[in-house]
Amino acid sequence: MATESTSIHGEWSGRLAFILAATGSAVGLGNIWKFPYITGENGGGAFVLVYLLCILLIGIPIMMAEILLGRRGRQSPMNTMATLAREAGAGQAWKLLGIMGVVAGFLILSFYSVVAGWALAYVERAATGAFTGIDKAGVEQLFAGLVGDWERLLGWHTLFMVMTVVVVARGVRKGLETAVSVLMPLLFLILVLLVGYAIAQGDFARAVEFMFRADFSKLTGESILVAMGHSFFTLSLGMGAIMIYGSYLPSHVSIGQVTLVVAIADTVVALLAGLAIFPIVFSQGLEAGAGPGLIFQTLPLAFGQMPGGAIIGVMFFVMLTFAAWSSAISLIEPAVTWLVENMSMPRATAAVTTGFIAWLLGIGTVLSFNEWRDVTWFGRTFFDNLDFLTTNIMLPLGGLLISIFVAWIMQRAHLLDELEMPDGAVFQLWHFLIRFFAPAAVIVIFLNSVGII
Ligand code: PHE
Repeated sequence: MATESTSIHGEWSGRLAFILAATGSAVGLGNIWKFPYITGENGGGAFVLVYLLCILLIGIPIMMAEILLGRRGRQSPMNTMATLAREAGAGQAWKLLGIMGVVAGFLILSFYSVVAGWALAYVERAATGAFTGIDKAGVEQLFAGLVGDWERLLGWHTLFMVMTVVVVARGVRKGLETAVSVLMPLLFLILVLLVGYAIAQGDFARAVEFMFRADFSKLTGESILVAMGHSFFTLSLGMGAIMIYGSYLPSHVSIGQVTLVVAIADTVVALLAGLAIFPIVFSQGLEAGAGPGLIFQTLPLAFGQMPGGAIIGVMFFVMLTFAAWSSAISLIEPAVTWLVENMSMPRATAAVTTGFIAWLLGIGTVLSFNEWRDVTWFGRTFFDNLDFLTTNIMLPLGGLLISIFVAWIMQRAHLLDELEMPDGAVFQLWHFLIRFFAPAAVIVIFLNSVGII
């Protein structure tokens, strides 16, 4: 039997509640905003294939490991690591894994909130009919007009951060569960509808070829790194969010099963987003590698032309905002639970403090689309650097440490106990992936991207 203890922060009402919350964390801007644009930037098919392999062979095994750690430790990631390291007779340095997660969460939230602000801004635009009859030049102008104006970006960024802090301050569970259970299926439906539109009106055949015909000549060491980093980002792995959610997971629930459900839902949403966007990109002669503005420059074209597009457009950006909201909440959970546990801060104070720091950092991202557009370090803007550092370095590093800790430091008996699996083929496959394959793959991809191998 797994341990019967529960977390001081509460517990999910059951299996479905965990699945909803973890899916809420996983499905977000990463799937709908980021996946299509990095696929476009990295040449399509071969990149998508590497991404899918990373989800299957690295993401899913590490997600199981991260949930397992959370459920066994039942505290904030830092204290969970301290407790489990003690249990395994390992050093307290493992706490650093928790600290790195807290920092990664802050950094990601700082730019995540800015982009979520774009979604908010587009709710307003859709509602005021800005997409009606819009053309290619129009959508490009609309987007450039938004990101070029730092004051407006700051306003939307502030609004989104306040929304996040309010939910976190009031304790996540109830509201989140209901919001996610209604909104996720709706978002899914709208995406299916958009794919339907793309099949009817866009260049669907070319999009499918672009996304699924692997041309390995387009694959560089850096694009493999981006695909791997994104598999961590999109599944919310490597920074403690899933560990925290695992810490609220009742002990009788199968970790393997819930992981599969979350990973499949997350991947399907990303692929649907790609299939909704690329047909329009190709039929309208847009640039697949247009970068972070890609969905904001393609979908309004569809909304502007389809029957009922004004309403569907509003609904889409509302759903996107909600998807981002439920992810943002999980991004500051590690920091908040840590402050509550170690600094005895009330939850609300902890939420406001963390939200404020992330908000402040977000100003750098706001400016990197206008005033600081030409200010670069290592050839990247402030936003690109933050994204690169967190997604491609910190999250995979966190995942690497999680896999090493679980597979090499913890006792095998404890793993079997937590996973509630027999010591059969499935367990052994997972154990192999987490013990050898995942850590080796992360290290090889890191070294390859900097040209060492
Ligand atoms: N998975 C979220 C998304 O795809 C982002 C996220 C990353 C959330 C890391 C929590 C932790 O949008």
